Amino acid sequence: MPRKILVTSALPYANGAIHLGHLVEYIQTDVWVRFQKMRGHDCIYCCADDTHGTPIMLRAEKEGITPEALIDRVWQEHKRDFDGFLVGFDNYYSTNSPETRHYADTIYTRLRDAGLIEVRAIEQFYDPVKEMFLPDRFIKGECPKCHAKDQYGDSCEACGAAYQPTDLIAPYSAVSGAAPVRKTSDHYFFKLSDPRCADFLKGWIVPPQVQAEAANKLNEWLEGGLSDWDISRDAPYFGFEIPDAPGKYYYVWLDAPIGYMGSFRNYCDQHGLDFNAFWSPDSQAEVYHFIGKDILYFHALFWPAELHHAGFRTPSGVFCHGFLTVNGSKMSKSRGTFITAESYIKHLNPEWLRYYYAAKLNGSMEDIDLNLEDFAARVNADLVGKYVNIASRCAGFISKKFGGKLGPCDRAATAEFEAAFARGEIAESYESRDFGRALREIMRLADVANLYIAERKPWEMAKQEGREAELHQVCSTALTLFRDLTLYLKPVLPALAEKVEAFLNIPALAWTDVWSHLPEGHAINEYQHLMTRIDPKKIEAMVDENRQNLLPSPPGGGAGEAGTAAATEHPARHGEHQQSEAKAETVATPWEPFIAIDDFTKVDLRIARIANAEHVEGADKLLKLTLDVGTETRTVFAGIKAAYVPESLVGRLTVMVANLAPRKMKFGMSEGMVLAASDERGGPFLLAPDSGAQPGMRIK
Ligand code: 2FM
Ligand code: ZN
Repeated sequence: MPRKILVTSALPYANGAIHLGHLVEYIQTDVWVRFQKMRGHDCIYCCADDTHGTPIMLRAEKEGITPEALIDRVWQEHKRDFDGFLVGFDNYYSTNSPETRHYADTIYTRLRDAGLIEVRAIEQFYDPVKEMFLPDRFIKGECPKCHAKDQYGDSCEACGAAYQPTDLIAPYSAVSGAAPVRKTSDHYFFKLSDPRCADFLKGWIVPPQVQAEAANKLNEWLEGGLSDWDISRDAPYFGFEIPDAPGKYYYVWLDAPIGYMGSFRNYCDQHGLDFNAFWSPDSQAEVYHFIGKDILYFHALFWPAELHHAGFRTPSGVFCHGFLTVNGSKMSKSRGTFITAESYIKHLNPEWLRYYYAAKLNGSMEDIDLNLEDFAARVNADLVGKYVNIASRCAGFISKKFGGKLGPCDRAATAEFEAAFARGEIAESYESRDFGRALREIMRLADVANLYIAERKPWEMAKQEGREAELHQVCSTALTLFRDLTLYLKPVLPALAEKVEAFLNIPALAWTDVWSHLPEGHAINEYQHLMTRIDPKKIEAMVDENRQNLLPSPPGGGAGEAGTAAATEHPARHGEHQQSEAKAETVATPWEPFIAIDDFTKVDLRIARIANAEHVEGADKLLKLTLDVGTETRTVFAGIKAAYVPESLVGRLTVMVANLAPRKMKFGMSEGMVLAASDERGGPFLLAPDSGAQPGMRIK
């Protein structure tokens, strides 16, 4: 029975470029949707630009255009990038649409009528020159903790402290520079503290609606008590005015998820589909949201509570993924690893990245790392070395020796493929978003196919009289196996699969095609080169192009104005907030006074191998390292969490101070110190010795 499935990815803000961090999600969703479609399900993939809010309003003003003109332009850019990466939305729309307004009003009115909206006066910072209330990120001032100047109103980029804008010393408006004043106005709140919300959510935040790991986090939030959610903003604001509240607008995060409905409604109207069949509480259809872990709070607490109490169905599943790191660290403009979709496409094939991401994704909320060396090695080995190689070694014989027509298929050789299909591991892995597992099994089958060819050596058969029939059968069989591998890879590599369909002269591949062989006598087309190897120089060129001389980022540039605790975790999708980037003007660190050599030799510096690295519960900046110093291991707490994911450190050699007196810290005893460089331009950058150094070696 075909399932009816509506799928969404988070809506990107309409004021920033799509980058490789965003693409983890769109590629993941697209692979899943393509898989469902290949299986014959009615799967519809909708998305839109997230167009409202203060940052977009101010950005347009700065550019001297209307917000509408800005969001139109950015929509084109986003659509171009998504098309480039073969993200096949069935509808890519905008939240600034009549459909989204309609559902926002419907939901708001129903919540109000259910007694779940409350009006309360609140006091906020107000820019008296610009005559507008200021979101936290538009208030700057001196950090109350480390006294760094020009810090945002929610957190300090110098010391990482999180605070309220009211805590800033000498605050000023990032919009006009004026000193903000406190001003009171009425705000509309969605009463999440109402017991009806908590009661409903308690039953809702369980698998399969959310992953088990997400359920833990959500329950923590729930147990901590939900606060009412401020869903209105005062004029001037780019958004939808609240129907019964002139001068008040829906906060961008209220109408953003409603944009999923708006985009789908727009699709329904174009295709004669019944919206209610998907969104009424008794709907038999499935609805899934793919999101990053930074916006779990919105999607798994606010959103289902809103929907439920406004008389709509709730999602069948919220699929949450982790953040992207590049070369083991957060994406960074100074390192050139903050890579836009546009720039990637200029240098590299999008299907390489689709394959690499898919190979790394496993359906969990773990972060994934794009290691650029491993990326080239993996793609070259798997796709070119194993997969494409099958066709390129066999196709030529079919055209040259057999007039382009296939011979009989060796049934014994396809048995392993049929058995794998019957086991269903690949399908099950795709279904559960464990694409890494699916690809491992597909590459195992590619090994089976390559072994079949290697054992029979068609290139030798071709030179020997009287072995034509054998040669014909081996090459034809290999091409059937190649067709099957293509079918399995098609959700990940749709453009390559299309090329293969044209080459093999077959209709669009469907999931169950594995059961039939390419028939004897079937004419195929001349083999054309299918995929080239990644040239590491092209990766270098791309990184160079993205390496920027950094200027302080503009307030809220490229990101939205999330206003909850959820947003204080590093939002990977907002690349700009991922890393505190260096300022252009570097303040030189003053030199320490001279010391005698004896002073230096008192410091026992040793090579250490990082045997293990892990997060420390409750610590914002620390990683716990286990260091192998040859004769013993040491535990060291290092303040490098902002720059490194623990897994990327394991196995690395670094430098430690081995005779620093052990220090008792809140989280345990620290038995030394690792060395790292840093200043305003970035860091910390861990030191690493030249190759050949061994754990325990003394540094002098
Ligand atoms: O975090 C973001 O980039 C938001 N624009 C995501 C919105 S997702 C949905 F709610 F619309
Ligand atoms: Zn600070």
